[in-house]
Amino acid sequence: MANHDEPSNNVHDLVEKNVGALIVLICVAISFATLVEIVPLFFQKDLNEPLPNMKPLTALQMEGRDIYIREGCNVCHSQMIRPLRAETERYGHYSVAAESVWDHPFLWGSKRTGPDLARIGEKYSDDWHHVHMINPRDVVPESVMPGYPWLAENKLTGELTAKKLEVFRNFGVPYTDADIAGAAQSVKGKTEMEALIAYLQQLGTAIKARR
Ligand code: HEC
Repeated sequence: MANHDEPSNNVHDLVEKNVGALIVLICVAISFATLVEIVPLFFQKDLNEPLPNMKPLTALQMEGRDIYIREGCNVCHSQMIRPLRAETERYGHYSVAAESVWDHPFLWGSKRTGPDLARIGEKYSDDWHHVHMINPRDVVPESVMPGYPWLAENKLTGELTAKKLEVFRNFGVPYTDADIAGAAQSVKGKTEMEALIAYLQQLGTAIKARR
């Protein structure tokens, strides 16, 4: 207990009795702690570099990713497996930062009306996805997922595909000039369904191959 007869000359007393100084020092302490936690992460190799066997999305997969975003798939599906036993037993290896270094913006999410899709690649055949996407109830009777039948009819023109790869190259994704030059040709005439399935089928494959 403080003895009120003693002169209060220690720093602790000063700070406790001066709200302004207390606020400033709390801000300094929290900012410092935050920097100590965050700054080392910028330099940690396994957070900033892709997995060794990771390949950039092909032009078709890139178009599929955009369709995934356009159709709002990420509103019902996360792509982020937490390091908890219930999650890893259901979905597989928990998500690691290295998987997302080329994902701009990343599609982790947290809302799960449907299951997480971070490891969906190669779980089902392309045909399963096709049937499921047209009418999910044909393969999962209790499903509340909407159908996306138009994806099987809409064709890609490839008009903007090269531009998309270029933008991602600016973000540091290692696309070659040849990738960009051939982008439009490799997607032209394919259906949106083919693109979306190509995107889904690669999700999580890099980390599965690593083990
Ligand atoms: C309204 C919410 C909702 C939206 C939007 C939605 N889904 Fe689903 N999805 C679900 C639910 C619920 C399930 C689980 C039942 C089933 O398999 O159909 C599911 C299941 C799936 C599965 C199977 C997962 C597994 O492990 O069995 C895939 C793949 C999938 N969705 C892809 C998509 C794609 C791609 C889109 C966008 C074109 C999409 N979903 C949009 C709710 C949604």
